[in-house]
Amino acid sequence: MDKDKRQNLKFDSKAVYCPPDEATKSISPPIIMSSSFQYDAEIFQRIIDGARKDVNIYGRCGNPSEYQFEEQMMMIEGADACLATASGMAAISVALLGLLKSGDHIVCDWTTYSSTHEMLDHRLTDYNIETTFVDTSNADAVCAALRDNTKVLYFETIANPSMKVAEVAPLVEMAHERGIVVMCDNTFASPYVMRPLDHGVDIVLESATKFIGGHSDVIGGAISMKSDLLPKDFLEQIRWNTMVKLGAPIAPFNAWMLSRGIQTLSVRVERACQSAAKLAKHFEGHPLVTKVWYPGLASHPQHEIAKKQMPKFGAMLTFDVGDGNRALKVLDNLELCCFSASLGGVRTTTQIPALMAFLDIPEEERLEMGISNGMIRVSVGIEDVDDIIVDFDNALALM
Ligand SMILES: Cc1ncc(COP(=O)(O)O)c(C=O)c1O
Repeated sequence: MDKDKRQNLKFDSKAVYCPPDEATKSISPPIIMSSSFQYDAEIFQRIIDGARKDVNIYGRCGNPSEYQFEEQMMMIEGADACLATASGMAAISVALLGLLKSGDHIVCDWTTYSSTHEMLDHRLTDYNIETTFVDTSNADAVCAALRDNTKVLYFETIANPSMKVAEVAPLVEMAHERGIVVMCDNTFASPYVMRPLDHGVDIVLESATKFIGGHSDVIGGAISMKSDLLPKDFLEQIRWNTMVKLGAPIAPFNAWMLSRGIQTLSVRVERACQSAAKLAKHFEGHPLVTKVWYPGLASHPQHEIAKKQMPKFGAMLTFDVGDGNRALKVLDNLELCCFSASLGGVRTTTQIPALMAFLDIPEEERLEMGISNGMIRVSVGIEDVDDIIVDFDNALALM
């Protein structure tokens, strides 16, 4: 099937379809594990003449399994180009370092993944790239933070752990009027729940480790692009001048695992979203739960925005049990669900943001970001939702 036809398929079909391997006709793509490739005089001349993606040069410069994953990601993100990376953080770092120069400025939402926050707040400042952190749900605050040297507006489509939903269209409009590139991390949503490029975002970043892989057994990331602001070959430029130089490409086996994960993304995430909605409602009426954050609840501050942008609402939710000790007791008493870092797998996983991902951020700053000590974050899996509810109820009773 040609590319145009594939682009016109519905999401689920796009995710499942994979062209047969040309050499063997296998319907599962082969894994090419080689780090080196044999040249002949003609191939060698093409490399000298500047050929890149259309010849295999060396594992770090590109690999057929990596390109296969990139092609599938491009389809499901509705992108014009994609770059696969060693991890979600590699995607974020390569995109930022590929785009920015010393003296540039970023405006970023104040709740992002902790390593992203630290990268912007500490690491990039060493290279004279400054970030202003604002609440991106406040358009006036975003507007006031923009400067002549602002190059990037950055946010997460569903922010961790408050599940805040960024209203994308006005942010894109404000940024594009000033020639600012809009970059967002879509990890908590996944392309099944939201496709930010359809809403005008220029670059979307995914930690494919999460919903795309879906089984908690692989690390990887992806940068996808559809933009009128950036050169069409921007991702190919940064593949060479940034990702290859940083040594951040994905390993072939990981790319293959993620290609496989994409094929079941929609069925897994559909089920998880339905269960998350049921679990959120259950927590809302629970006497031991003080607050619930889930975009699908009418009580969520961005519920109406979420309804328009991502009507499936996602598989992530957070609830509060009052303090850190109580939160720890709940997680320690879970039997079916898992107390663990990360998210997006077939198993329901939980964590305490204040004690885990955000531990390095000073408490005062954390509380200002809306991250209280008793918050428990849940990534809902595909177990039977009634069993998930019983597991949480038992654990809450033992708190
Ligand atoms: C929202 C978000 N973005 C990026 C990352 C980084 O992904 P990775 O661990 O694949 O580098 C994470 C990891 O938890 C995350 O939660």
